[in-house]
Amino acid sequence: MTRHFLRDDDLSPDELTRVLELAAQCKRDPFGHKPLAGPKGVGVIFDKNSTRTRFSFEVGIAQLGGHAVVVDGKATQLGREETLADTGRVLSRYVEAVVWRTYGQDRLEEMSSAATIPVVNALSDDFHPCQILADLQTIAEHKGALEGLTLTYLGDGANNMAHSLMLGGVNAGMHVRISAPEGFTPDDVFVGYARDRAELTGGSVQIVGDPSEAAAGADVLVTDTWTSMGQEGDGKDRVAPFRPYQINAELVALADPEAIVMHCLPAHRGEEITDEVLDGPRSVVYDEAENRLHAQKAILIWLLEQQ
Ligand code: CP
Ligand code: NVA
Repeated sequence: MTRHFLRDDDLSPDELTRVLELAAQCKRDPFGHKPLAGPKGVGVIFDKNSTRTRFSFEVGIAQLGGHAVVVDGKATQLGREETLADTGRVLSRYVEAVVWRTYGQDRLEEMSSAATIPVVNALSDDFHPCQILADLQTIAEHKGALEGLTLTYLGDGANNMAHSLMLGGVNAGMHVRISAPEGFTPDDVFVGYARDRAELTGGSVQIVGDPSEAAAGADVLVTDTWTSMGQEGDGKDRVAPFRPYQINAELVALADPEAIVMHCLPAHRGEEITDEVLDGPRSVVYDEAENRLHAQKAILIWLLEQQ
């Protein structure tokens, strides 16, 4: 059966370990894996803006010996309402995998149910699993291991990053704290998915309203934009309620003295994180951005091995 990577718990804990090993190998030896030699094609579709995902997938696919067909979704017949299922069936005849950044998670599910090739979620409204693979690789590099670490995410607890950090973090055996203002805490459904997975790994999820309490003693502090793509016109105040959740020097001082600070980027400097912290000694954000390249090659290699 074709495997897809639509959300973080599509990988079992053991499979996640294997993908992270592959990511480390890809970083050590960028041209050592050629599963797409030929070159074989991979479709990479964007319905939303991107810098990191766009560049890292296109370069990574070339390094794997393949050819990336990178398109704006609106420029394809998807923009004129060809069905997702027909698109999945047709693309399965041309390329080895589809990587897609879109809005609803249901769209990814629909395409993948008809595709006979792996479909990879390059960010949806609900999850950003490729980012979390890179984040876990980065944490492991800086901390030596993942299991048992405490990761605190501050900001919009109901966005794709919060959901994926909960699921991916517990999948790696981490203790994940989500700290968000009222009205922006994660939906119980997503917390439930993460708690189910935590039962297998010994990880945990906690929702902590007070940002200082959430940051206390944490090994990893993470934030993300307060306004995700597609939320610009949702009529909610996405600044004032979030101010106490900014990652600044005072908040970092509450974490473990060796804590690292992460942000998937793009950052809104002065909003969710200060320049001082983003450019400071605890920040690993550019390692994190680099690791998108290695981690995404790893998930493609692994998915193609399962075909
Ligand atoms: N972090 C991330 O996904 O960046 P892009 O939106 O630039 O791809
Ligand atoms: N939560 C952000 C992540 C961007 C990489 C968004 O969806 O816009």
